[in-house]
Amino acid sequence: MSAPNIETIVSLSKRRGFVYPASEIYGGLGSSWDYGPLGVELANNIKKSWWQWMVYERDDIEGLDSSIIQNRLVWKYSGHEQTFHDPLVDCRTCKERFRLDKLLDVQCPNHPSVHPGDDKECSLTEAREFNLMFRTTVGAVSSDEDESALAYLRPETAQGIFINFANVLNTSRRKLPFGIAQIGKAFRNEVTPGNFIFRTREFEQMEMEYFVRPEDAPRVHQDWIDGFQDWITSLGISQENLKLYEQSEKELAHYAERTVDILYRYFPEREDEEKQWDELMGIANRTDYDLRVHSKKPEDAEGKRINPDSTDDLSYFDPQTNERFYPYVIEPAIGVNRTLLAVMMDAYTEKTNDKGETRVILKLKPELAPIKVAVLPLAKNKSEIVELAKKIKHDLQPTMRAVYDDTGGIGKLYARQDEIGTPFCVTVDHESLEDAAVTVRDRDSWEQERIAIDQLNEHLLRRM
Ligand code: GAP
Repeated sequence: MSAPNIETIVSLSKRRGFVYPASEIYGGLGSSWDYGPLGVELANNIKKSWWQWMVYERDDIEGLDSSIIQNRLVWKYSGHEQTFHDPLVDCRTCKERFRLDKLLDVQCPNHPSVHPGDDKECSLTEAREFNLMFRTTVGAVSSDEDESALAYLRPETAQGIFINFANVLNTSRRKLPFGIAQIGKAFRNEVTPGNFIFRTREFEQMEMEYFVRPEDAPRVHQDWIDGFQDWITSLGISQENLKLYEQSEKELAHYAERTVDILYRYFPEREDEEKQWDELMGIANRTDYDLRVHSKKPEDAEGKRINPDSTDDLSYFDPQTNERFYPYVIEPAIGVNRTLLAVMMDAYTEKTNDKGETRVILKLKPELAPIKVAVLPLAKNKSEIVELAKKIKHDLQPTMRAVYDDTGGIGKLYARQDEIGTPFCVTVDHESLEDAAVTVRDRDSWEQERIAIDQLNEHLLRRM
């Protein structure tokens, strides 16, 4: 089982402290969200898993953390100033604004049974291009319109990697093929954000740029398309809720030769199966586009430098073949927020207890669970039990995220932990004072096992 719709996750998130609407006490800010005590842990665990798999468990990838605000020229030469647009239309009747290419995904506000433009009262304007980059000014400037101080918040983390290609190559003394991985915030002034954390204006990306010889690019691209599904399913997301989508030529970004998206079933409630899916990530063959456009040497057909502002050449010299060339780039790019949403949707389950009550269980992989263990005293008015439970929690916390809770009856405490995905509950009872053992309860099977306190840490680590 997985969540029947995104709304179920929105309500669980708000109720239990995964994700809250941002700026809520001032009426909110369209499509901005804050990650609460559990949400920040889940997001951190997803990022840790990606970094572990991408950087630590391979021999050919280095990490990077580049600036969000870069020289404006980065975005001039990357092509984002010229081409990072969405086509926008306004409706003169309802005064709403829509993305022309997404009209079929939304309803007309006045006539929800049809798409914008499909009712005789709709009056859409001609499409115009709207640049998605957030603008800002750097330093103390005379006016916000001062072009010399204009800068952007990065719309993708990738460019920070390309402009550091030579730095990383030289300092790490790498040879092709190798990759550079980065996790960080990106910003896009989306025309129609929505669906909770699926499409927001501020989000986080996990991107890796893998540099290869041009002739190897198609094969390496396919390897990453196949390989990435292993990481996604290792997070507990089931294969049946994933599918591949080959972007058509019209859909390709300005830099891409081929892009395959991995889609997740974010909208299982939709009758039309085709409409149940949306993009979790994209895996692109960006060719040598980016390294070329940021290099000082390449020339256009008339012999003019395409980048007269760059001070470096980002080509690669292969000492074995004595060739100099611009490497091709294979880019798997995935959003932290969309991954978190897919992980929560897929982990969502309901189970009926002996009393016929429905309980929510978030069957998160222990590796991702915000809290690994909850230590619960069976009798909170008995000080020896409370003290022992608190001591057990303190002894566990250097190795795993542990919490202590005595704010309810045991049934309620178990239910609370099930709902937030805590894989283990440890109960301290009267007998624990005699036999120095506790009960370990499993979240998914609700089975219980008696474990000696001095074996507890090792026992839990083994099961995670
Ligand atoms: N460097 C390539 C690139 O940025 P993208 O497909 O535009 O490609 C990569 O973005 C991933 O970032 C997406 O697959 C998605 O997971 C995430 N993403 C993009 N825009 C987003 C948004 N507005 N809100 C949340 N996540 C977004």
